[in-house]
Amino acid sequence: MKARLVFVVLLLAISSVFGVTSAQDGPSGELEIFSWWAGDEGPALEALIALYSEQFPNVEVINATVTGGSGVNARAVLKTRMLGGTPPASFQVHAGQELTGTWVVAGRMEPLNDLFEAEGWNEAFPAQLLEQISYEGNLYSVPVNIHRSNVMWFSPSKLEEWGIAAPATWDEFLAVCPAIQEQGVTPLVVGEAWTVNHLWESVALGVLGAEGWAGIWTGETAADGAEMTAVWDKFNEVLACTNVGADSAGLSWQQAIDKVIAGEAAFNIMGDWAAGYMVTTLGLEPGVGFGFAASPDTTGTFMWLSDSFGLPVGSPNPDATVAWLSVLGSVEGQNAFNPLKGSIPARIDAVSAAPDLYNAYLQAAAADWASNTLAGSLAHGVAANERFMGDFNQVMEIFLASRSSAAAGAAFKAVCATSGACGGM
Ligand code: GAL
Repeated sequence: MKARLVFVVLLLAISSVFGVTSAQDGPSGELEIFSWWAGDEGPALEALIALYSEQFPNVEVINATVTGGSGVNARAVLKTRMLGGTPPASFQVHAGQELTGTWVVAGRMEPLNDLFEAEGWNEAFPAQLLEQISYEGNLYSVPVNIHRSNVMWFSPSKLEEWGIAAPATWDEFLAVCPAIQEQGVTPLVVGEAWTVNHLWESVALGVLGAEGWAGIWTGETAADGAEMTAVWDKFNEVLACTNVGADSAGLSWQQAIDKVIAGEAAFNIMGDWAAGYMVTTLGLEPGVGFGFAASPDTTGTFMWLSDSFGLPVGSPNPDATVAWLSVLGSVEGQNAFNPLKGSIPARIDAVSAAPDLYNAYLQAAAADWASNTLAGSLAHGVAANERFMGDFNQVMEIFLASRSSAAAGAAFKAVCATSGACGGM
């Protein structure tokens, strides 16, 4: 009798930790999922929530979104809530320093080692990704996808009309820029401030290469050295072919993409959530309605980022949250989410489980992810902590106002020092 009681108690404990329960005795109550996937960015998350609700019908999911591309607004709201002791049940966070160097070091996340072990996830996710969600031997979030940051988007029919090809290098782009401008078309469209940072990281990757880029975050590439000066100089040349200082500040990333499709701009550099938008929202076919290429000078390098969710310390409903994480990390969950999102699954076995779900763009991205040199995105949380990211906005402002590579280099170095994001300097 006693042994049986111990067994039942153990079973209940296991099921409550891992959410492996039937609908009847599964988790219940409310589950607030916090993200910036609102409006056009919503369908993939909604598909995941629908799957969760099917499996855990007793939980009422609250899909709490704060609008604003790349989480510019959501991350500020999250910070207030985390510091105020009212965390959401689970929140969107980028794998890498945004997670580990920000929330984990501050002791705000629960380790998820047991869940990873129970689900067999230590083998299902690539080792380099597991590294980015680990801190001092513990795992802290469940990655739902891999996005690519260094992609150049265009309209194949418009390029044909203008008689130009997608440039493979920045020099090629700069050479064709005046001819595009003469037609009254913006050569490279950008939007609100964060999209300018997004462009910068692609330019920096092109100038520095993957090794030089990685060197920024170890201190091997001097923050104010000659290589970084070359990055700012090139960025300045590229900016002259954009709408910065004209209508950029008022455009969301979707509106920037709209301009490419409408033929008002030739190119845009954006993460591949743009593919999700063009396929899921605009109904365009990859390779036909829109074209894509690695951003100039980065062919063979995949600048990656990964959206993930975790279990914050003080989560109001840990059982429902762990169940949420188990759906998110499952093959089924990843295949419900990614085809709509424009990203590829973080799991290594998900695409092969349902290849037909993945369009030509996503197939190409999956092949590149498997074969390219990898580089972690700065603009989307892999390379540096939140402190650096926040302060980098000021570096960019200084550069945009002064157009001085030396001033930007000095400011960059100062931000490295205060954030501790650039290795031993
Ligand atoms: C990124 C995020 C993507 C997408 C994008 C635009 O930071 O990882 O999933 O939402 O912002 O908002």
